[in-house]
Amino acid sequence: MPAAHVAVHLHVVGSCIELANATTSVWGTANIGPGKPFTDTQAKWIWSHAGADLGTSSGVRTTISTTVTAAAPGTQTLLHLIVENFADVYLNGAFVTRLTGGWRNQQEYTNRPLQLTLAAGTNTLSVAAYGASYGGRAGLLASLTSSDSTTVLARTSSDWTCSVDVVGSRNSIEVAPALSSIWGTANIGPGKPFNDTQAKWIWAHSGSTVSSSYFLRPIFTTMFVVPQDTSALLSLIVDDRADIVFNGQMVTALEWGYLAGQYTNRPVRLNLKRGINTLSVIVTNYNNPGSPAGLLASLSSSDGRSVYSRTSSSAWVYSALVSSNPGCIELAWSGKPFPDTQAKWIWSDAGRSSGMRTAMTTILYAQQAGTRVLLNAISLSTANVYLNGILMGSLPGGGNPTSLLFNRTLAVGTNTISVAAYYGVPTPGQAGFVASLTSSDGTTLLARTSTDWTCSVNVPSI
Ligand SMILES: *[C@@H]1O[C@H](CO)[C@@H](O)[C@H](O)[C@H]1NC(C)=O
Ligand SMILES: *[C@@H]1O[C@H](CO)[C@@H](O)[C@H](O)[C@H]1NC(C)=O
Repeated sequence: MPAAHVAVHLHVVGSCIELANATTSVWGTANIGPGKPFTDTQAKWIWSHAGADLGTSSGVRTTISTTVTAAAPGTQTLLHLIVENFADVYLNGAFVTRLTGGWRNQQEYTNRPLQLTLAAGTNTLSVAAYGASYGGRAGLLASLTSSDSTTVLARTSSDWTCSVDVVGSRNSIEVAPALSSIWGTANIGPGKPFNDTQAKWIWAHSGSTVSSSYFLRPIFTTMFVVPQDTSALLSLIVDDRADIVFNGQMVTALEWGYLAGQYTNRPVRLNLKRGINTLSVIVTNYNNPGSPAGLLASLSSSDGRSVYSRTSSSAWVYSALVSSNPGCIELAWSGKPFPDTQAKWIWSDAGRSSGMRTAMTTILYAQQAGTRVLLNAISLSTANVYLNGILMGSLPGGGNPTSLLFNRTLAVGTNTISVAAYYGVPTPGQAGFVASLTSSDGTTLLARTSTDWTCSVNVPSI
């Protein structure tokens, strides 16, 4: 699925946090100190939250910026910079270059110092920085000097501004209020284990109180600022499983919690860090092909008096993972004629052999309620076609299969289309599937079968 319509909808700004002095950090001093490539020992290692030198969230972009004033146009300066993991440098909004690492050894301190030419007046120097991948640490150390290196014009400190965006995400969809959902109120309400009645049940698409696809695993994320390190309590109910990741570190996994006696191991204590904190919850829906799915969560101070974040469309964004399965294989032989000649015949393996059942999945985003889709498909073997885990109909397969057209309304948000095809049924040896999805007037292509679809084989029903 191409990354069309992707937008960032969660953006939090705060002061940067000083993680360590230049010469006393986890990044060592191989390149830092007098006579070494980075000489400004008064600069601080900074990031958007305390503890980033232990770990931070991936999937967020941290923009770290300051302003520098120049008296004359064309003022020449030098930027010294070390970063874990990489940083895109911008001057007055214009991209300059990408710098990577720089703390390990002298050979790694490449393309530095970077020459920057300031305009007369106030200049904005900013760095879009990314920490190490999933759970890794993050930090930035920088110093901007005059071209002869004698005067420091700016150095990283808590005077710099940090802003954080969740990259490639969408606002989550509210599917029910806390107190009136199919999940009931056994544990929800004043005096009950989950007492934040303003939280909303959220999901990646509308209608998830009826069904969502087994193959969709949304990652929900919220961000908030705290002025000092503190501990907080996360109350959470989920259908079916939540893997909780806080500032990039896996905390714990929880299941359900909506039935009486089921609300165990909660609330979860989280150690909040000074600055901008990022909480992510990866939700798995156990039932194949589909069943209701949702998340209800509230993070409060330890004394229960203030709420840092509760699930809602505006405070929580999501990105959609389609299980963790490999891409489908494009079949070399094109099979039957199909009107969309660019759609590929696909299956889980090129030999069209493996598996009793192959599920082929793609996702489709709908911005507006009432968006309709036309799905035109042929399968060489018997196949069930599902929208968000709900059966739309079956393709017969067999000796001379004809195409079928489904005309359906999409949910708002990320819809999952899955096709479960049965190898060799009814004709031994036959397997292969082709589909084209368009707007309901047939004019706009929304998706077509390709190696971008994910394929999974013999997924068990739970
Ligand atoms: C609500 O729940 C929180 C966290 O479990 C708890 O600290 C607080 O005392 C509860 N408030 C009420 C009014 O029950
Ligand atoms: C799909 O269904 C809608 C609503 O029933 C209808 O207006 C539209 O004409 C249908 N499109 C096709 C191609 O059948």
